Amino acid sequence: MKLEIDSIRLTSELAKLATFSDAPAPAVTRVVFSEQDRHARAYCLGLYEEAGLQVREDAVGNVFARWVGAEPDLPAIGTGSHIDAIPHSGQYDGTVGVLGGLEAIRALQRSGMRPRRSIELMMFSAEEPTRFGIGCFGSRMLAGVLDGTTLRDKDGKSLEEWRTMAGFIGEFSTVALPVGYYAGFVELHIEQGPHLEKDGIPIGVVTAIAAPSSLRIFVEGEGGHAGAVLMPGRRDAFCAAAEIVLAVETAARSTGAIDTVGTVGVCDVFPGAVNGVPSRVRLEVDVRDIDAGRRDGVLSQIDKACQEVAVKRSVTVRTEVVNADLPTVCDARLVEIVTKAAEAQGLACQKMVSRAYHDTLFMSRITPATMIFIPCRAGVSHRPDEYATPEAIAAGTRVLAGSLAALAM
Ligand code: GLV
Ligand code: MN
Ligand code: MN
Repeated sequence: MKLEIDSIRLTSELAKLATFSDAPAPAVTRVVFSEQDRHARAYCLGLYEEAGLQVREDAVGNVFARWVGAEPDLPAIGTGSHIDAIPHSGQYDGTVGVLGGLEAIRALQRSGMRPRRSIELMMFSAEEPTRFGIGCFGSRMLAGVLDGTTLRDKDGKSLEEWRTMAGFIGEFSTVALPVGYYAGFVELHIEQGPHLEKDGIPIGVVTAIAAPSSLRIFVEGEGGHAGAVLMPGRRDAFCAAAEIVLAVETAARSTGAIDTVGTVGVCDVFPGAVNGVPSRVRLEVDVRDIDAGRRDGVLSQIDKACQEVAVKRSVTVRTEVVNADLPTVCDARLVEIVTKAAEAQGLACQKMVSRAYHDTLFMSRITPATMIFIPCRAGVSHRPDEYATPEAIAAGTRVLAGSLAALAM
């Protein structure tokens, strides 16, 4: 099958999508249900319409764009990713899987192919945890592992309120997909690591996705006047939090495994005044590993450190586990299909593990799934200088199109 990817069009669509941002270019900030997220969604919907796809949105803003197959009652083949972007990140994370997925469908349409199964392009609501503190809430709900009723942002505003404001309606209970909805799912994504570029390999096929977890830690001490409260009497919540931050790093390093990582990416200090002793701190912590048992060991070590800091500094420390997910092993048949699709295009392909999490982690709970990775410059991601070449994106899109074609026949 001859698959022509319109790389110029795809590159310009990615650049246009990046303009829907709350940060100045080249940075992209697009938090789910923000005004820019809604504009970006509308832009994508316009492209879906042009491509003749049937669009459906669910109660929490997951978007399904379907190229209806010759046998529409068969379980569909899914692809897609996310368009939300963490604060001050880049323009390729997630978007390559959405607009690349669209271009893969257009390339198949241009080739004259008519798939037997429908091919459905997903735009998942919020792969990123920025708004609600938990990654992949849209795909978690599709997979039936989260009901969404407890989700709140840091100011207490609920998912229900946010999605209503963004124009999405319906019962949360309708979001979970029925068993057998998909016959397979393949997500295209930048690697977000350095391996493909370093090895000069254009295509990665993902065999497993690491186990992510996140915690919220609330530290409460005693505030006061920065001049008048003398050092012996202090119960400074931020000083206690600082010890906890270092304990997270120590716990992650202590396994000795290269696959264990721990990060404290959020630290809110109250009242946040230069001349006020901090009385409250909220930390958000991310811990991951390929090995879930080892990851859980790190979580226990962090919990123990929190208790020790609480005693030592006479503060209270409360920890809340937001999520502690199992890793996923991708489907061997789909890995083989992607490998063959790459070979058919004359592209070298390497099996690899994803250290980042993706919506495929949850789609794999309800359907056979895998991912296609493409190199990104120096492995950089979640930064404004994130970059993938048009050639790399076109190669990934071509392999995705070939894989979808094989799965949908
Ligand atoms: C996804 O963005 C992740 O943090 O792995
Ligand atoms: Mn990301
Ligand atoms: Mn992503």
